[in-house]
Amino acid sequence: MEKQGCRYRELVLVPCPFQGHINPMLQLGTILHSRGFSITVAHAQFNSPQTSNHPDFVFLPLPDGTSSKPVMPLDFLAFMSNLNLNCRAPFQDFLSQMIEKQDQHDQLPCIIYDGFMSFAQAVACHLKLPNIILQTGSVASVLTYFAYPRLQEEGYSTPQDSSSTELVPGLHPLRFKDLPATNFDNLDGIWQVIAILSNIGASSAIIWNTMDCLEQSLLAQYQQQFQVPNFSIGPMHKIASASSSSLLEEDSSCISWLNKQRHNSVIYISFGSIASVDAKELTEMAWGLANSEQPFLWVLRPDPDNGAEPTDRLPDDFKETVGERGCIVRWAPQQEVLAHSAVGGFWSHCGWNSTLESISEGVPMICRPAFGDQKINTRYISQVWRNGFELENDLERGVTERAIKRLMVEKDGDEMRQRAAELKEKTEVSIKKGGSSYNSLNELLEFIMSV
Ligand code: UDX
Repeated sequence: MEKQGCRYRELVLVPCPFQGHINPMLQLGTILHSRGFSITVAHAQFNSPQTSNHPDFVFLPLPDGTSSKPVMPLDFLAFMSNLNLNCRAPFQDFLSQMIEKQDQHDQLPCIIYDGFMSFAQAVACHLKLPNIILQTGSVASVLTYFAYPRLQEEGYSTPQDSSSTELVPGLHPLRFKDLPATNFDNLDGIWQVIAILSNIGASSAIIWNTMDCLEQSLLAQYQQQFQVPNFSIGPMHKIASASSSSLLEEDSSCISWLNKQRHNSVIYISFGSIASVDAKELTEMAWGLANSEQPFLWVLRPDPDNGAEPTDRLPDDFKETVGERGCIVRWAPQQEVLAHSAVGGFWSHCGWNSTLESISEGVPMICRPAFGDQKINTRYISQVWRNGFELENDLERGVTERAIKRLMVEKDGDEMRQRAAELKEKTEVSIKKGGSSYNSLNELLEFIMSV
């Protein structure tokens, strides 16, 4: 698609500065760059991306005024509100200068921003620039927020229902305990998220990192509710092989360890970049893994606040007991791990990226969601796509051991593996020529050229 020697329109990408949001935005940048667009990434100084991994992109750090790391997920909204406030002026200055330098009006930049970076949309509208939202979560998770006004009207007091297993009317298969309100003390947080997400109407279009084979009816529902062009082009990490956008250093020694393991024998455990496990749970997980007698690869991140190593909190004789059967790293090259033939199961917190990465490689899952959209993703995995099951309630070593065996060696787990393999096939079809994501990406490219 590249014009001879020159590039198509300049795209300015604005990622939200957390790993689960940076990854899809930079994957999108890689896809669009490979189709001939110039890419500038305007990013917060907090969690600044590794620029050297993306030599084709221009990076623009925005002074964000943040002085300390937020405690997640509690501080997320306050942190985002401050960041949106601080980044607005420098972003507007940058774009104004960029426009001044353009000699042709039809070359005005197009802004693609994470749904949580609402300042980008405000600036784009102010400068009359086309702007497109990248939703980094599932359609189901976004639609759930928009169900709150209706639920409130119908008299449901959702935060109080945080332990209720009753199904939410109109939101099958979600139970009240799966709703995002359970993360907040009251509904104020929910209204704030809805206010942020409500920018949708003012944007030119929405890009989703999802596929029709997973969320076709939800996409249709969304399209009906918001009359904005939608493009579902996922899973983006399988469309263009993006360089790593990890904020932590990946430990590739685990790949050499995986090379020595039998096909489908290893359970991979990772809870993404934010969710944490307390000391008691860590001990119960450790003994469950030890007693299951399955090989395992476990990602244990250092404590984000004090750098403490969680491995120091593992039971004294754990490492001795498991020996070479277990491999523990601080951060793994996850996509490569999930694509490895030795990996037969993923015990995950079910962040949307991890969910998509697991589905793309046909790996069945044990779901242990912590907060936010993870509970919604878990319900779709366990109840709709049925490529995994949820591990609920307190972690206890016997329960943990049985869950691992259920996924890795029992018939039930095999059936989930079979369904996961079918989903992988459907995913591959969707990104091949003529598939839904392939077509949607082409429509998106045309759309960007036309706005
Ligand atoms: C956050 C939210 O918690 C999640 O619910 C939301 O959907 C996105 O934003 P996070 O918790 O980090 O994300 O989870 P996830 O969406 O799964 O993203 C984690 C990313 O880090 C994945 O792309 C995964 O491949 C990568 N990762 C994780 C690594 O590269 N190495 C690791 O060791 C662990």
